[in-house]
Amino acid sequence: MPRRSLVGDLPTPALLLDLDVLDRNLARMAGRAQALGVALRPHVKTHKCLEIGRRQLACGAAGITVATMAEAETFAAAGFDDITWAFPLVLARLDAVTALARRATFRVTLDSPDALAALAAAARAAGIAIHAWLEVDSGHHRSGVDPDGRAVALARRMAGEPAVVFDGILTHAGQSYHARTAGARSAVAEAERATMAGFATRLRDAGIPVPAVSVGSTPGMSAVERLDGVTEVRPGNYAFHDFMQLAAGVCAADACAVTVLASVVSHQPGAGHAVVDAGALALSKDLGPDDPARARGLGPLLGGLAGHELDPRLDVRGASQEHGVVAGPEAADVEGRLRVGDLVRILPNHSCLAAALFDHYDVVRGEEVVGRWTIWRRR
Ligand SMILES: Cc1ncc(COP(=O)(O)O)c(C=O)c1O
Repeated sequence: MPRRSLVGDLPTPALLLDLDVLDRNLARMAGRAQALGVALRPHVKTHKCLEIGRRQLACGAAGITVATMAEAETFAAAGFDDITWAFPLVLARLDAVTALARRATFRVTLDSPDALAALAAAARAAGIAIHAWLEVDSGHHRSGVDPDGRAVALARRMAGEPAVVFDGILTHAGQSYHARTAGARSAVAEAERATMAGFATRLRDAGIPVPAVSVGSTPGMSAVERLDGVTEVRPGNYAFHDFMQLAAGVCAADACAVTVLASVVSHQPGAGHAVVDAGALALSKDLGPDDPARARGLGPLLGGLAGHELDPRLDVRGASQEHGVVAGPEAADVEGRLRVGDLVRILPNHSCLAAALFDHYDVVRGEEVVGRWTIWRRR
């Protein structure tokens, strides 16, 4: 019989994915979308992983959302057939867009007359009609048209363009990441809903059909109370959560599915810190919660090789490319505790960025390694 593979036997750095936590997170969000009466179109940029995407479909997802053309191509090649690219249309990728639109229901997103004109020209040249969402700014002020500005005129042009299938309106209220209480997150989510439902009504009143209204983020979905006027949600991070979500109160520690396993490689007596083999290219340099009272460097350590308890004192306090510097508030937190060769687990501030830095997940149940899933992180 093959020997059981254990976390303690893995080469480091490794990205551990707790299968039971993942499955609980997927089921909980699917149930939440169902209770709120909306379809779920998870954002797969969080995991870039076919096995996880398939589990999301098995939980009832109506399709998937991607951030890059490479993600769209990877998932389409694996049979995912309803894909939204929720990113302002990249005109330099129009050849790939038309090629993919021939094989799957591929929905692009745009927020400018220039992008619409280029998309329509490419679709006409290819002899097809391409699905497109109009991106709306519901307060994040990153991309998307101002619903009170030229948005109605652009929607009318999209709906009237024969080479484009107007899918409806889409937004991402990313300002939910700055909300520090459930009440504040609920208010952001309600403003997102009200902006989009109100804008859809205005378009319909102007004679423009709006087939779908798409919103969503993980913090928003954790607190939203109603979604009338919305047809689908696109949370992504909920599959894993991370220290940012935990620190903001979006999830509990036992809902964080992804951790980085690292080795202590150096500890000089009296230095007050130890060095691990998980630096910026394992954890990213995302500083995490913007609330200084909650920030813990690049991520806190966990208590052991399995389980969910955070170490109360030790964090990765700095990183260069491959070195992570672990320390606590006092030198004694490291002295006599961390020795060269020890294994530690780190909860990354931002799991989507950490996942994009690894080639695969080591899938674990407790301390047992039960699988290895590829992370498709090409661009
Ligand atoms: C356009 C868009 N939609 C949906 C999401 C999913 O948000 P979250 O990861 O908070 O669930 C993101 C995340 O950045 C996004 O950019």
